[in-house]
Amino acid sequence: MNQLNHVAIIMDGNGRWGLKKKNSRNMGHKEGLNTIEKIIRETIKKKIRFLTLYAFSTENWKRPKKEINFLFNLLKDFLKKKTNQLNKNGIKFKMIGSKKMLSKKLIEILLNSEKVTKNNKTLQINLALNYGSKNELINAINLIKKKKINFSEFNINKHLYTNNLPDPDLLIRTGNTNRLSNFMLWQLAYSEIYFEKKLWPDFTIKNYNKILRKFKKTKRNFGNI
Ligand code: FPP
Repeated sequence: MNQLNHVAIIMDGNGRWGLKKKNSRNMGHKEGLNTIEKIIRETIKKKIRFLTLYAFSTENWKRPKKEINFLFNLLKDFLKKKTNQLNKNGIKFKMIGSKKMLSKKLIEILLNSEKVTKNNKTLQINLALNYGSKNELINAINLIKKKKINFSEFNINKHLYTNNLPDPDLLIRTGNTNRLSNFMLWQLAYSEIYFEKKLWPDFTIKNYNKILRKFKKTKRNFGNI
């Protein structure tokens, strides 16, 4: 059976869920938070060490200002309310992505959650925020150039936002869309990928466990036979 250390999730479908059920994309984002909490609890239960959640991409700035503000306020409230609970549950919180363009207040809240939870070991949650894989790679290349060191796989890994993380073993994308949307393009080189039809707010523990079971049984070759 395969070891499962790191699950990455593209939580897609909030907007469509919100429009269909509440006539508001933002209500879909709000509902999506419940799925996040359920998946975090189940990930701990399954003793998985790393969970990376794609919350906001470098391309999501193209969305209407009202939706962007709603998303960031949701995140700020979540972290303000839940950081102590994350801490009590042994969760280490980390943001991955560029801090450029984020408000001072949000950066302060993110740094605080990182600081409070930094010694925890049960589960590390990486929240991909203002994250784009191409931007991450360009950033790494520039850092390597500045240091005048080799362009080796080791050095590239070391200069990505994900520097101390193992690559995801498993990527799940909900929302019935089969694409990567500029997410962890380097790190997903040998990950198993599951596209799930359900929209993120409808994604259940049962759906999650079904994917985890399938993953465990998959033969991973890494180029071998
Ligand atoms: C994808 O659905 C979802 C997002 C872009 C946002 C996910 C972020 C949150 C729920 C808030 C962040 C807060 C925390 C605590 C992580 P979509 O809007 O792309 O859906 P669509 O494909 O139906 O339009």
